[in-house]
Amino acid sequence: MTQKVDVLLGLQWGDEGKGKIVDVLTPRYDVVARFQGGPNAGHTLEFNGEKYVLRSIPSGIFQGDKINIIGNGVVLDPALFRAEAEALAKSGHDITKRLYISKKAHLILPTHRLLDAAYEAAKGDSKVGTTGKGIGPTYTDKISRNGLRVGDILENFEEKYQKAVARHCQILDSMNFEYNLQEAEAEWKEGVEFLKNFRMIDSEHLINGLLKNEKSVLAEGAQGTMLDIDFGSYPFVTSSNTVCAGTCTGLGVAPNRIGEVFGIFKAYCTRVGSGPFPTELFDATGEKICDLGHEFGSVTGRRRRCGWIDLVALKYAIMVNGVTQLIMMKSDVLDTFETIKACVAYRIDGKEVTEFPFEATDKIEPIYAELDGWKMDMTKVQSADEFPEEFNAYLAFLENELEVPITIVSVGPDREQTILLQK
Ligand code: GDP
Ligand code: IMO
Ligand code: MG
Repeated sequence: MTQKVDVLLGLQWGDEGKGKIVDVLTPRYDVVARFQGGPNAGHTLEFNGEKYVLRSIPSGIFQGDKINIIGNGVVLDPALFRAEAEALAKSGHDITKRLYISKKAHLILPTHRLLDAAYEAAKGDSKVGTTGKGIGPTYTDKISRNGLRVGDILENFEEKYQKAVARHCQILDSMNFEYNLQEAEAEWKEGVEFLKNFRMIDSEHLINGLLKNEKSVLAEGAQGTMLDIDFGSYPFVTSSNTVCAGTCTGLGVAPNRIGEVFGIFKAYCTRVGSGPFPTELFDATGEKICDLGHEFGSVTGRRRRCGWIDLVALKYAIMVNGVTQLIMMKSDVLDTFETIKACVAYRIDGKEVTEFPFEATDKIEPIYAELDGWKMDMTKVQSADEFPEEFNAYLAFLENELEVPITIVSVGPDREQTILLQK
């Protein structure tokens, strides 16, 4: 029987811990595939005392001989890809034989990065706070049918490249944006040559063929639902569909081939970059979460904004993704709290609202439920039998509110600090 594709994706504003859990789940699968985003992602994995941050390479790369795929929905920067692959090779992980790249994935050009910076500068105070990796301009070129794809590097590439660069430079000049392209361009072109060491394929054929041969596939999301181009807090979002449906367009699998949808969330909330964040804390509690959770961006090093868990936003994310299993991360960060809050509704202009609104403005006042903290070091816990009563009560409260079972709990950054719950 043809297999299905399981999907793991973020339910908040990114950095939920997707990389760690994809790595943990990989032994159950034959294939791990990225379907959207690009090097704006920073997925952290920790095992055997080592720490790795992956940007474009799927997080299944460390588990044996699994097939890893960069799908057509991804945008790829050859220079950053080369740096990432070479760093892995240096640490003893040669990925050349285990990684396939879709010919249809779009290329991030050095001028896309410049355009990203120019558009952000032009927005002034209303800037998105992008990762500066050229994500928006690359997807813009894709949708406006001006993009260059990985497969293009195999024929007459220089001509196509120069045409795209000339168009980008015209825009940059019209914006009076000062730039120096030469250095970045040389590095980028070396990256393009490096890419040729990898298998560039029409990955939709490979994936569907594998599924037909009963191989199992895990699709790895990047960013999070609240950063989705359609359903996130627009315009403070990324430029791809981070939701489950993005798997279909980003890998070429039909909607009826989707199996389990793992929705991953932190026991609290973070956001990096600008945009609305209803439960954001500006006080000592927010600082405490940030410090204990080491909440600094893995790509840009920026301090992440922190707040309490937002069940209004989480329910919305569960709805648009069809989440079948929940994974709760970083609960250990709340180990010392007397009281833990969870936002169960918003008050907007005096009215109580439980549906995520069109625009999450400053007018939103979160309404909180308060739960007792468990006040115990959870980082050494090995099984659910050791969970304190208050922790079980917190899990039961969340499951009751969210109406989806929590099947994995993470109590630390290491691969081993993961508790699978029997349901
Ligand atoms: P991703 O982008 O969703 O893969 O997440 P990031 O890697 O950007 O951010 C998650 C951060 O939390 C990383 O530094 C992880 O090592 C760390 N982390 C993951 N799970 C846990 C956990 O359960 N507890 C703690 N304390 N840290 C965790
Ligand atoms: P992972 O996969 C957190 C945010 C940026 C910015 C907005 C748009 O590690 O969870 P972009 O560069 O995509 O145009 O920026 O999206 N952002 C992320 N925030 N985690 C990420 O990825 C992110 N990727 C983009 O901070 O607000
Ligand atoms: Mg991240």
